Amino acid sequence: MKRESWKSRIGFIFAALGSAVGLGSIWRFPYIVGENGGAAFILLYLICLALIGFPVLISEILVGRTTQSSPAGAFSQLGRSKGWKWGGKLTIATGFIVSSFYSVIAGWTLGYLVEAVLGNLHKFKLSDDALVHFTNLSASPLWTVGFHVLFITICCLVLLTGVRKGIELGSKIMMPLLFMVLLILVVKGMSLPGASQGINFLFSPRWDLLTPSAIAMALGQAFFTLSLGQGTMVTYGSYLSQREDIPRSCIPVVLLNTLVGLLVGIAVFSIVFSAGLTPSSGPALIFETLPVVFSQISWGYSLAVLFFVLVTIAAITSEISALEPAISYLMDEKGWSRKRSTFTVAFGAFALGIPSALSFSSWKNVTLFGATFYDIVSNLSVNFLVPIGGFLAVLLVGWRWGIQPAFENLKTGSVSFFQDRPYLASYFRVCIKYTAPILIVFILLNLLGLY
Ligand code: PFF
Repeated sequence: MKRESWKSRIGFIFAALGSAVGLGSIWRFPYIVGENGGAAFILLYLICLALIGFPVLISEILVGRTTQSSPAGAFSQLGRSKGWKWGGKLTIATGFIVSSFYSVIAGWTLGYLVEAVLGNLHKFKLSDDALVHFTNLSASPLWTVGFHVLFITICCLVLLTGVRKGIELGSKIMMPLLFMVLLILVVKGMSLPGASQGINFLFSPRWDLLTPSAIAMALGQAFFTLSLGQGTMVTYGSYLSQREDIPRSCIPVVLLNTLVGLLVGIAVFSIVFSAGLTPSSGPALIFETLPVVFSQISWGYSLAVLFFVLVTIAAITSEISALEPAISYLMDEKGWSRKRSTFTVAFGAFALGIPSALSFSSWKNVTLFGATFYDIVSNLSVNFLVPIGGFLAVLLVGWRWGIQPAFENLKTGSVSFFQDRPYLASYFRVCIKYTAPILIVFILLNLLGLY
């Protein structure tokens, strides 16, 4: 079977950007910026992107492009041992696990899009009403599992049509749409009375809030937002032609992803502060605070619909990228057709997602050390498996394959890029070989509480 490939470099950029921009950039990034020092945190985050996110992204794409193979084949080719193949398989498994619970939360956003269209999200007088509405919906197994299956079915339809027609074309249509919706939200948000307070919350630098935990958070965010450590970028790199310029293809992804996070922050905090509310964190911000805001401002109905269109699109392009490594593995290693691989992986992610979906209702009390199934799989994968996957990628490139041959390979397609900027060559070598692995070990030790 001939390996699929991107039709154009722009197609790759849109697909990788679609993967990066997701729930992590939309609800997590703006909130942690506001909570952890505003502009001071943004600076820290940018440093983390430069020292760890960008070099790991380049390494993963390079591994994929060089081997033209799924992460398992890629790791075993360059690592030349069974152990490395298992490393590759671990990253695929991580992507698969992430896709299972990611689809549950994405299902809520789809459900909230339906709520917004039905006009149910702009009639709350008190924040308690919005909270009760959300608690009732998320406590209904029919609602959570129903939207989980609907969301995964949509992703399955995109994936069935393949790399070019499905992922590439889908991202090329959905990403510009996302930017348009986002711009409307930003303009409307900033024109609301009191919006400037929200912008202050986001951008005024508060250096005293830069604690060690803020540093770990900035590193973790840089990782998750670029979809690293879970086979996604290795797989997307494997659809890239050998002649393609890797650094030039990745720079727009990193910059635009950061821009989206900041723009969402401006839109959300302008809207929240204009209603005289204080922002809450994580899911509560989207599902509990924003509906109260939509109920109080003019244009509430349209803003609610637009906002949930935005989040749902972002979630679709991310979910498909988390499912694709496992699909590509089954096609490469088992010789299965795309159709059979897609159905199998999507069904598996759906099934594994059910206990996560039920963790908010009937399985709420099924816990281990006080953590529900959802808590366990999401924390385990995001906090441990993802950094381990990224660590394996830089270890493979910097030490096992060898930084010298790896760098020679990276220069294919990028000769002019490095000729014009010779200093970047040392930057990549040092970051891939030393800085990124050391910083990842720092995150892991920090999370284990060993430090
Ligand atoms: N980058 C996505 C986000 O920020 O929401 C999350 C993600 C998508 C992680 C796909 C991993 C992945 F494979």
